[in-house]
Amino acid sequence: MKILGLNIGHDAAVALVVDSKVINAISSERIIREKKTNVLNWDVINYVLHPNNLTIDDIDLVVIGGSMPWTNFVKPYFPEDKMEFWMFGNNNPRHNSLEPGYQLYEGRGYDVFVNTQFYQPMLPFKQEDFLPANIVFDAEDFDGGAVVKPGWMINHHTAHAASVYYTSDIPQCAILSVDASGVNGYSSSAVFIAKDDDLTWVYSPDSTIGTFYNAMTELLGYGPGLTKSGTLMGASSYGTPSKVAIEQWRKISQKFSNRDTLSDDSTFNIWAGAFLTKEFPKSIRQNIGRDEEHIEYRSKGDWAYYHHYLTHHNERTTQKVFDHAASVQYVFEQTLLEMVDEVYENTKGLNNDTLCLIGGSFLNCKANYEILKKSKFKNIHLYPACGDDGTSVGAALFTAIKMYNEPRIYHTPAECAYTGIEYPEINQGIPYNQKVIAKMLADSKIVAWFDGGSEFGPRALGHRSFLANPCDPKMKDILNSRVKHREWFRPFAPIVVKERVMDWFDIPVESPYMLYTAPVKQPWKVPSITHIDKTARVQTLDREMNEKIYDLILEFEQHTGVPIILNTSLNVNGQPIVETPEEALELFHSSDIDAIVINNRMLIK
Ligand SMILES: [Fe+2]
Repeated sequence: MKILGLNIGHDAAVALVVDSKVINAISSERIIREKKTNVLNWDVINYVLHPNNLTIDDIDLVVIGGSMPWTNFVKPYFPEDKMEFWMFGNNNPRHNSLEPGYQLYEGRGYDVFVNTQFYQPMLPFKQEDFLPANIVFDAEDFDGGAVVKPGWMINHHTAHAASVYYTSDIPQCAILSVDASGVNGYSSSAVFIAKDDDLTWVYSPDSTIGTFYNAMTELLGYGPGLTKSGTLMGASSYGTPSKVAIEQWRKISQKFSNRDTLSDDSTFNIWAGAFLTKEFPKSIRQNIGRDEEHIEYRSKGDWAYYHHYLTHHNERTTQKVFDHAASVQYVFEQTLLEMVDEVYENTKGLNNDTLCLIGGSFLNCKANYEILKKSKFKNIHLYPACGDDGTSVGAALFTAIKMYNEPRIYHTPAECAYTGIEYPEINQGIPYNQKVIAKMLADSKIVAWFDGGSEFGPRALGHRSFLANPCDPKMKDILNSRVKHREWFRPFAPIVVKERVMDWFDIPVESPYMLYTAPVKQPWKVPSITHIDKTARVQTLDREMNEKIYDLILEFEQHTGVPIILNTSLNVNGQPIVETPEEALELFHSSDIDAIVINNRMLIK
């Protein structure tokens, strides 16, 4: 069966799954060229279809990985008897996040629905994790060019959970999904049990800690939480958590339904920010918590006010704000650690000592490492696209395997990570020469690296990267001044060959997706990938995953004695990561880069 999985909303994405195998997947941002974009269009969809000689007509089902509202380009329509379920929820509070009447009757939606034949193939059973839907593309042009496909809406966290479980070969485990959905605890966190290819929601931790982290990113002036929470994580290493954070973190991370007052999550987070930092103007702090003023605050753009308050004073990089960032990180980590302990206890006998972590919150590599080191689970498993882009894959795999009984197929780390399409060789430059590039890197040159299909998820994992020398203490500043132009306090990450990882990093497991921050054992030897707290966001690499980079690192080691290379994403000035060879060449010619490798060709300035 050919299934097209979609994420609509921020981090819009498309995945093509054929017979329960991920063929290609891409985040819209790589095509639309706007970071985290929610835009989906035919360019994005055809990106996964055309190279596989398919059109939308060949697709059997279109599935959407979440309860996000539709867009003008793609809209789900539900059968009449499911409308009430979708709008008002059944007894399952997970479905209560949509307000009554939510967009359903807006515009021509209802008319379109009732006038459309319902194509949905019936399943032999019903389950609340999914709803049948007609997926209409170009719905605005319904009288003309609209395309209607049968499909399903998959619960958001179910789609998250499916992405990590159904790509793995884990027989049985617990799955914890945490993100910043932000409406309430149920819509922001979920626990599943997976066994023998079956996936079952068991409870919600009722936490909105992911939203808290995003909110604090904004409150502290680092920018929108959706795009800049990694910056807060980087900044947190420069600070020390406060006494309030250490002693009273539970007050800030209390379960959503336990909150006596301030149950509105935005208001709660503003209160939490004030409580944690004691920084915000007293006159506003005094007013927080008065119900009648909540709405007024929000309508006045209270968030913008806080943002202005700190950035106006240029406080983002003061020790005080670094300490606040450390406090936020501390609260986040402690909350997740306790949540994971709770998952362990609640799923005892069912979890097989294995935990899959998924959802945007687990892009936080520092927290992941704490969980790895401190939780009772013996095995922790991650997926590279743990943000919402990954729900496109998860929704499609859930549909294929759980709903239509197709067999689960193990996806190697390379198959999980490199889901972009392949491009033909360019007819420029000279043949790739490993020895030349390794020597250039040892000489502290900056090399742009483009190889095969692009990565799925936010990290560059060796297919769209800048490579550089981790041993050169000036490399971080050189990269920032010549190419990346990032905040000075953010670290760059290493790739280390798997067999040598224990000599260099304190990490007891493989980290193919760069989702753990681990202590560096010889920081003086690799200063440009070592963060202020003597850690690094490490990617471990086995030869099977990426032979070309693996061999290049070994060649680099011949020059430097270090089996590690600095790797940062192939983008500049906050743009999305480069997708095509043409974009890579343009970046090469317009930036201060010494060489570029594009598949089997290379150009040197
Ligand atoms: Fe999510």
